[in-house]
Amino acid sequence: MKSTAGTIARGGALLLALASVGAAREGQGQPAPPGSGVTRAAFGKLPDGTAIESFTLRNAQGIEVRAITYGAIIVSLRVPDRNGRFGDVVLGHDDLAGYLDKPAYFGAVVGRYGNRIAKGRFTLDGKTYTLATNNGPNHLHGGVRGFDKVVWKADAPAAGTASVTFRYTSRDGEEGYPGTLAARVTYTLSDKGELAFEYSATTDKATPVNLTQHSYFNLGTPGNDILGHELTLDADRFTPVDATLIPTGALAPVSGTPFDFRKPTAIGARIAQDDEQLKRGGGYDHNFVLSSAGAGLRRAGRLTDPGTGRTMEILTTEPGVQFYSGNFLDGTIKGKGGVVYKHRSGLCLETQHFPDSPNQPSFPSTILRPGKEYRSKTVLVFGVTR
Ligand code: BGC
Repeated sequence: MKSTAGTIARGGALLLALASVGAAREGQGQPAPPGSGVTRAAFGKLPDGTAIESFTLRNAQGIEVRAITYGAIIVSLRVPDRNGRFGDVVLGHDDLAGYLDKPAYFGAVVGRYGNRIAKGRFTLDGKTYTLATNNGPNHLHGGVRGFDKVVWKADAPAAGTASVTFRYTSRDGEEGYPGTLAARVTYTLSDKGELAFEYSATTDKATPVNLTQHSYFNLGTPGNDILGHELTLDADRFTPVDATLIPTGALAPVSGTPFDFRKPTAIGARIAQDDEQLKRGGGYDHNFVLSSAGAGLRRAGRLTDPGTGRTMEILTTEPGVQFYSGNFLDGTIKGKGGVVYKHRSGLCLETQHFPDSPNQPSFPSTILRPGKEYRSKTVLVFGVTR
């Protein structure tokens, strides 16, 4: 028995060793190998010595997505513009130290609960749970050490696919949440320019779960603001918030407000309007209620940069999307290539359930129970417009 397992392990190591030859070449600045696949490489060490790895997915068009085992972070995403020039469209850092020094959820999977839970408290099956509060009075993105700040285990990449799976087991009581949660995310890049995020999780006690991807996008020039990007969101309603960005519980119509993105609209067109909701968010920082929710994977919206022609369509199985216009970026973070991330130089479109759902009985439930599986899928489709 033992030796059989050993042989399998050695076989796996051989495959990985072959994969890392590509990584070494790439490190020396040589052209990426053609065709689709995955390259595994080292991406630094945590202060306690834990080795962090990167997985670079590549498709036949040359689109390249690199993700690391720390926080399941997407550290770069290179897509062509209308002239075929490749550029990195996500904010982040060149090395692991950058992610540790100034954590801002760049590119990470946030969990166990993406976005806020009011006052870090909720009651489930008659029991009140107290979570870590890390955002004024509230709990944000899973707490002090959310899923963005833990080391995920990577499955050995399968030959011939541009895909990687990360797993993380969150212990019972972590950040105050009940139950041991076994979570998984798979990133898959297709030859059609689709980048899929597939999440799943199981638990041994009832718990809220709301996982999402927290990439900050800038389809134009890194460091410039995103106010000229045009956004479409297939949402008739949004969830207005209180002064601490907790939903009031209302589903308000977007019609006649600066939250109406049903037709492509420049993000900056109305962001400075005298609107109480925009003031509370310091810009857009709101959950939009997707109109065709409940119908499986369907379109949530589209982002376009008229300057470069890059487009990103979003499909999801989730009922909402948090549109965050990078209002808290303030020029204090220096990112990849020394670029300063000034105010609104990136935006997030986080497909998820609504914020504070554990305290909002009228919102779709985020409670996962033992014996059930949490599943969620989002697909980003990259393209260009002429
Ligand atoms: C939230 C913002 C928060 C940001 C942190 C977003 O998902 O909605 O309020 O500041 O994440 O990066």
